[in-house]
Amino acid sequence: MTKVAAIIGGGVIGGGWAARFALMGWEVRVFDPDPEAERKIGEVMGNAARVLPMLYEAPMPKRGQIRLVETVAEAVTGADWIQESVPERLDIKHRVIAEIQGACPEGAVLASSTSGFKPSELQQGAARPGQIVVAHPFNPVYLLPLAELVPSAATDEAIVARAKEILTAIGMYPLHVRAEIDAHIADRFLEAVWREALWLVKDGIATTEEIDNAIRYGFGLRWAQMGLFETYRVAGGEAGMRHFMAQFGPCLQWPWTKLTDVPEFTDELVDLIAGQSDAQSGHMVIRDLERLRDNNLVAILRGLKQQGAGAGKLILEHDTALRGPLGEEVPLVTVRRVVPVDWTDINGHMNEGRYGQLFSDASEELMTHIGADRDYIAAGNSYFTAETTIKYLNETHAGEDIYVTTRVMIGQGKKLKLWHQMHRASDHELLATCDQFLLHVSLETRRSCPPLPDVLEAVEALAAKHAEAGA
Ligand SMILES: NC(=O)c1ccc[n+]([C@@H]2O[C@H](COP(=O)([O-])OP(=O)(O)OC[C@H]3O[C@@H](n4cnc5c(N)ncnc54)[C@H](O)[C@@H]3O)[C@@H](O)[C@H]2O)c1
Repeated sequence: MTKVAAIIGGGVIGGGWAARFALMGWEVRVFDPDPEAERKIGEVMGNAARVLPMLYEAPMPKRGQIRLVETVAEAVTGADWIQESVPERLDIKHRVIAEIQGACPEGAVLASSTSGFKPSELQQGAARPGQIVVAHPFNPVYLLPLAELVPSAATDEAIVARAKEILTAIGMYPLHVRAEIDAHIADRFLEAVWREALWLVKDGIATTEEIDNAIRYGFGLRWAQMGLFETYRVAGGEAGMRHFMAQFGPCLQWPWTKLTDVPEFTDELVDLIAGQSDAQSGHMVIRDLERLRDNNLVAILRGLKQQGAGAGKLILEHDTALRGPLGEEVPLVTVRRVVPVDWTDINGHMNEGRYGQLFSDASEELMTHIGADRDYIAAGNSYFTAETTIKYLNETHAGEDIYVTTRVMIGQGKKLKLWHQMHRASDHELLATCDQFLLHVSLETRRSCPPLPDVLEAVEALAAKHAEAGA
């Protein structure tokens, strides 16, 4: 049965949650008193629907509906997950939580997006404190996998376990914060960096742009893939972490940081920062900046996915979990996916080389389907492509939903001939075709040879089925 997520407060963060849940196949109900909420959520969903599927090679689940409703009760009745994302004020959060608990199922997860409050603060005066947990996400919620999951001593363990399961199922990483503290873990760092940055600007040492350059051209890239400690371990060289600590430990005594001082938040400081920021990025409207950010995140996350590292490892695992076996239709649908931004050339078209990749992915899916899978290859047998002819029939752009059908034209002995057709999903327009000839090879002798009996039988059966349907 379709699962239901209730999003209470549909601003920047609530909109991001709504989009992620809907794209992962959940039915979503949103309550937000703002008359502009529907437009704003539509815009966030537009952004999310363009980029989130680009992270996956697997077909996405059937998209759920997002429906705006008139009351909190209507949103939360029968919901499996409730995400409170109202403004960061404890009195508002208390009022909203009371209203939610008046109507939601007792077993539902009631999670708050709060950046700063502890779960025990949210639980004050609640009807069922055990149901409440913090799930603190990062903007954009639809691309960044981290959610800090913070229970208090009063939160039920079953709720925490269920929250972990659901966050993982929607492609997120639940970081279980075992002790509740103000601002959890990640925002503590951000606060430290933010304070140092304010001082650097206030003291005239660096502009906002210079500070951003210091991050994006240097340590920001290291942090994105290894974090802090693993990066420093590498910096310690062969002697490792102990050496690093010994070398840099004394610096902690030097007066490098102003972290314990807070710059006075005067109008002058605000004007200085806002003015520099306008000079740096004022030529772009916020929607363009969001799109740029999202494209960059997709490219970085896909790069990390290819390496199976950092957040890319999570996406790889989620992608594998989303991938099911092929169906039985004729011809077989071997690939269903969205064209990612990093597959396009300067014209915005899908790059020629990617067609080859797509059709090779299609034949790999077919191989797995007939039993010539990773184990079969590891045991010393494989198919090698001997010839491909690709015809490019229509333009294909980033963000388009496409699918590939594959027909076995010849499947005899060591010969396998496939006919792939790539279509646009929205109107089934034929975009490209590929005629592919493969030979079965022994990885030991590196010479062609017939497949093992089970695979040969599967190939012959498929060839007969496809010939019959094609006749
Ligand atoms: N912005 C971020 O980067 C970020 C990151 C992580 C967590 N958070 C947290 O997420 C929460 C929401 O922040 P945001 O940035 O989305 O704020 P926002 O101002 O963009 O959105 C808040 C939304 O709540 C709605 N709202 C106000 N009162 C409400 C009520 N009684 N019932 C339902 N909806 C109501 C508002 O109309 C608005 O659309 C905060 O707790 C914040 O700390 C924010």
